[in-house]
Amino acid sequence: MKMKVYALSLVIPLLLLGAVLGEKLPSKQTHSKVDEKLKLLNKVSLKTIQTEYGDVIDCVEIYKQTAFDHPSLKNHTLQMKPSFYPATKSKNWSSLRGMSQSWWKSGSCPMGTIPIRRILRQELLNGTSPENYGRKNPYIVNPNRTTVTQETNKTHTFNFLDKNGTSNFLNGTSNNLYVNRSTAMLITEGYSYIGAKGEINVWNPYIEKTNEYSTAQIWLVSGSREGMESVEAGWMVNPTLYGDTKTRFFIYWTADGSQTTGCFDLTCTGFVQTNHEVALGSPIEPVSSEFGPQYEIAIFIFMDVNTSNWWLLLNHKEVGYWPGELFVLLRGSAKVVQFGGEVYSETIGKEGVKHTSTAMGSGGDARDMYTGAAYIHHVRIIDYSLTEKYPEWVMEYMDEPYCYSAYNYVQYIKEPEFYFGGHGSHWNPYCQ
Ligand SMILES: *[C@@H]1O[C@H](CO)[C@@H](O)[C@H](O)[C@H]1NC(C)=O
Ligand SMILES: *[C@@H]1O[C@H](CO)[C@@H](O)[C@H](O)[C@H]1NC(C)=O
Ligand SMILES: *[C@@H]1O[C@H](CO)[C@@H](O)[C@H](O)[C@H]1NC(C)=O
Ligand SMILES: *[C@@H]1O[C@H](CO)[C@@H](O)[C@H](O)[C@H]1NC(C)=O
Ligand SMILES: *[C@@H]1O[C@H](CO)[C@@H](O)[C@H](O)[C@H]1NC(C)=O
Ligand SMILES: *[C@@H]1O[C@H](CO)[C@@H](O)[C@H](O)[C@H]1NC(C)=O
Ligand SMILES: *[C@@H]1O[C@H](CO)[C@@H](O)[C@H](O)[C@H]1NC(C)=O
Ligand SMILES: *[C@@H]1O[C@H](CO)[C@@H](O)[C@H](O)[C@H]1NC(C)=O
Ligand SMILES: *[C@@H]1O[C@H](CO)[C@@H](O)[C@H](O)[C@H]1NC(C)=O
Repeated sequence: MKMKVYALSLVIPLLLLGAVLGEKLPSKQTHSKVDEKLKLLNKVSLKTIQTEYGDVIDCVEIYKQTAFDHPSLKNHTLQMKPSFYPATKSKNWSSLRGMSQSWWKSGSCPMGTIPIRRILRQELLNGTSPENYGRKNPYIVNPNRTTVTQETNKTHTFNFLDKNGTSNFLNGTSNNLYVNRSTAMLITEGYSYIGAKGEINVWNPYIEKTNEYSTAQIWLVSGSREGMESVEAGWMVNPTLYGDTKTRFFIYWTADGSQTTGCFDLTCTGFVQTNHEVALGSPIEPVSSEFGPQYEIAIFIFMDVNTSNWWLLLNHKEVGYWPGELFVLLRGSAKVVQFGGEVYSETIGKEGVKHTSTAMGSGGDARDMYTGAAYIHHVRIIDYSLTEKYPEWVMEYMDEPYCYSAYNYVQYIKEPEFYFGGHGSHWNPYCQ
């Protein structure tokens, strides 16, 4: 009942505003779908925190979170901790500088609750549709964009590196690229993976248009290209989703190449959060600067082999998990692990359209390296031996090497360093 009054009181000012601006107004059906979605997502909170930068954080009781509304999770038993941890090498990699989430300045959520970034009505109305809100556009293969080797100097490069840094350029198979996406990544495949980790430095890349976004992340993937199942986490700038250009900690999942399932953060049912300090989709700070200090987040995703739940750790603390019930193939293992960045723009791969100048990573080329480019350090995978290791084979992958690059630096050092990024078409005649 309260919901309805709230809805009405907002609809009228919106209608007026729309009329004044002469915009196309959302239909009645859209509004009722928005109401439905808001009701599903915004649960009763024990405590509400208003942040300085505009977000509202609701502290919701852990057992009342949206995840449990997912039809596959009707019989799900909440897991508060992983039943085991993969063996990590005893080396102390803790070079991490303190990351913080901006909302911590404004308050905290009590134990037994989880902080949820409140979804605003206007954010839902700004998206393409309430059904697709919070979901990436589907991974659709573009018949007009094929992969080509570096030698032929077109769109795409494969570069396999072994542990010694020996390079093997492979000739492009007839793979087609995705619509509207450009990635620069380190890829490993050929095994069954049950985990991956790495430390990603945090930047705030330029975004040209509000319907574009830029990520730095780790993906664990299984399945066919267009029906892929994935769990993903990292940082992102995404004005459509978040209403600003701050760098935020995000997660994502899909069980069908983003056709109909999955979403960012907690914008749909699925991910089960257990942590009362980390808010998904909230800004992180500080960000790194060129020639200045570098700030990192440590991402660790692994499957609890006893429950098939995919656990997510941020800076060595459990955030929560993607329940095995959400997936078919990922209930067993991932077949591909990817580390790097993705830029989404409608201008990518279009003939006769200027390529976006949205940046990936720092906006610097991968070969600008430390303090110049985005990096992922201490790249590790976990296989069924349940111990972490550097992948046996990795591949530098670039959809558009002249726009966004990937470089795995291995010479003269013990620990490979993976760099990626670029500034798209900004001051760059080669990126078209
Ligand atoms: C939940 O458990 C009941 C009883 O065992 C079963 O009939 C039902 O199919 C289960 N639902 C799901 C979604 O697994
Ligand atoms: C790792 O380093 C941190 C900070 O330097 C220290 O507190 C911790 O004890 C170290 N852990 C191990 C296992 O050496
Ligand atoms: C592929 O190219 C054709 C012909 O130029 C065009 O009509 C079609 O829309 C393109 N497809 C995509 C997905 O860009
Ligand atoms: C590759 O493309 C770039 C940009 O168009 C050009 O400068 C370069 O000469 C080309 N290299 C080869 C080997 O064709
Ligand atoms: C890497 O180099 C070492 C020493 O040169 C050699 O024994 C080993 O076979 C090389 N490994 C690969 C995968 O080429
Ligand atoms: C790629 O193609 C070129 C020319 O067709 C050939 O010389 C080269 O051996 C091929 N490389 C591989 C790894 O197959
Ligand atoms: C909705 O979109 C408008 C126009 O792009 C933008 O100014 C506004 O900030 C957006 N609102 C939210 C809450 O995202
Ligand atoms: C979970 O799996 C690990 C590794 O297979 C095993 O050692 C452990 O006993 C299991 N724990 C439970 C509670 O089943
Ligand atoms: C790609 O961009 C076009 C606009 O150019 C948009 O209509 C389409 O839905 C987008 N497709 C995907 C799969 O992102």
